[in-house]
Amino acid sequence: MRSETQILSLCEIEKQNGYMASVREYTDCLFAENGIRPRVFVLTLGCQQNVSDSEKLSGMANEMGYDITDTPEDAHLIVVNTCAIREHAEKRALSLVGQYKHIKQKRPELIIAVCGCMVAQEHRVEQIKKSYPYVDLLFGTSSIHRFPEFLASKIKTKKRALHFHEPERVVAEDMPVHRDSSYRAWVSVMYGCNNFCSYCIVPYVRGRERSREKQQIVNEVRELVESGYKSITLLGQNVNSYGKDLDTEYDFADLVQELDSIEGDWWLDFMTSHPKDASRKLIDVMAAAKHVTHHFHLPMQSGSDSVLRAMNRRYDFEKYIGIVDYIREKMPDATITSDIIVGFPTESEQDFEDTLNALRRARFDMIFSFIYSPRKGTPAAEMEQISDKIKSERFERLLATQNEISLCQNKPLEGKTLKVLCDGRSKTDDGVINGRTEGGKIVLFEGDDSMTGKFLNIKIERGETFALYGKVVK
Ligand code: SAH
Ligand code: SF4
Ligand code: F3S
Repeated sequence: MRSETQILSLCEIEKQNGYMASVREYTDCLFAENGIRPRVFVLTLGCQQNVSDSEKLSGMANEMGYDITDTPEDAHLIVVNTCAIREHAEKRALSLVGQYKHIKQKRPELIIAVCGCMVAQEHRVEQIKKSYPYVDLLFGTSSIHRFPEFLASKIKTKKRALHFHEPERVVAEDMPVHRDSSYRAWVSVMYGCNNFCSYCIVPYVRGRERSREKQQIVNEVRELVESGYKSITLLGQNVNSYGKDLDTEYDFADLVQELDSIEGDWWLDFMTSHPKDASRKLIDVMAAAKHVTHHFHLPMQSGSDSVLRAMNRRYDFEKYIGIVDYIREKMPDATITSDIIVGFPTESEQDFEDTLNALRRARFDMIFSFIYSPRKGTPAAEMEQISDKIKSERFERLLATQNEISLCQNKPLEGKTLKVLCDGRSKTDDGVINGRTEGGKIVLFEGDDSMTGKFLNIKIERGETFALYGKVVK
């Protein structure tokens, strides 16, 4: 039984289905008039959670009669799914929305929707309402299931549908999904975050933690495996909290174990784990599992205990490194990746050096590194800030240190044969095929398009900082 969370009621689903049908009538008319189906362009910024939401938005648009296009210029409906994690992400969203103005000037019938995390903040909604009058629809992260309603209203009344919603405690099931890939899939196990790290906007824009019912997740993953998906990643801001809001003893490790029993040749991965409650039980389950990848993404953020305290992370370096050591003890071949923030308000030179030393001790295979960006409404934004010059100088030092470590982690893979999931032609070099190991390391090799979406064995000939190079072996 759930306490405050509502699963979307049948009545709400039927209501949205009704709106979908009315938009469908409209797009069918356009088709009858012009001989082509109208097109939707969905642009996604931010994390995998947004990618997953965008697959639902595309799925709904598809049901409503829109074909999917990857060029905004020929779209009839543009959806910008925004991110608010750093200032750069918000600037990028606004600049893109600015560019779409020119398309709308040429084709006034174009409908522009802006949704996602940025739009779950009141000040941004006000800004877009005022400064971007050609934006037709605005809705926050917890109203995604109401996209058909907002679109139907715009089509019918011709008026803008601008909604600011405090994130609600909603879990929306059974929405149409248009998956971008036929072999990699993302499955949310929970939404929201309760952790309130002092720098982070996510709890404000995604609301409180709410878990999906276990059976819904099991059914979705089973269907994906049965329809040929090779890599399935469970998503949540802190997957270790899975189930805490449901009145049950069943936790994330139990879920992973149950999913692992689904037969087939497939990989099960998850992100993100918060170190404060990454359990030994979960690591034991991973080590004994058949399908779970030996990959752990465990954001450390900082190697300094005083910065970790100011960040409200609720672990210290000793606890953190204890988890890393336990992962390596149980799975010596594990790939461990992390997130690091430099230039957090209280960070001294010594704190920063503690982080560099922590990198050397933890020996991550790869890190995602970020320059701290103040977020309006979060406690850290009110603290005394560090200069941009120091921040970027530390960022460069962080990258240089990690690059050396990544190279040292990749060199010993030379001569080994690794299982790789092929992603087809490399975006940067068309003559090369690329894939990823279970730990997410990029592997480049010679091959052809028929390999896309398949598992291959690749003998690694060269391990570099950012990629492994090898040859296909039988
Ligand atoms: N829930 C995940 C992280 C989600 S955000 C977790 O707790 O690990 C992804 C990453 O963005 C974070 O791990 C953090 O490193 C970074 N990040 C979040 N807020 C930031 C900010 N204000 N400035 C810079 N980086 C930030
Ligand atoms: Fe943000 Fe912290 Fe929640 Fe991650 S755990 S989403 S960093 S508040
Ligand atoms: Fe960005 Fe929202 Fe994800 S703020 S990082 S898209 S949860």
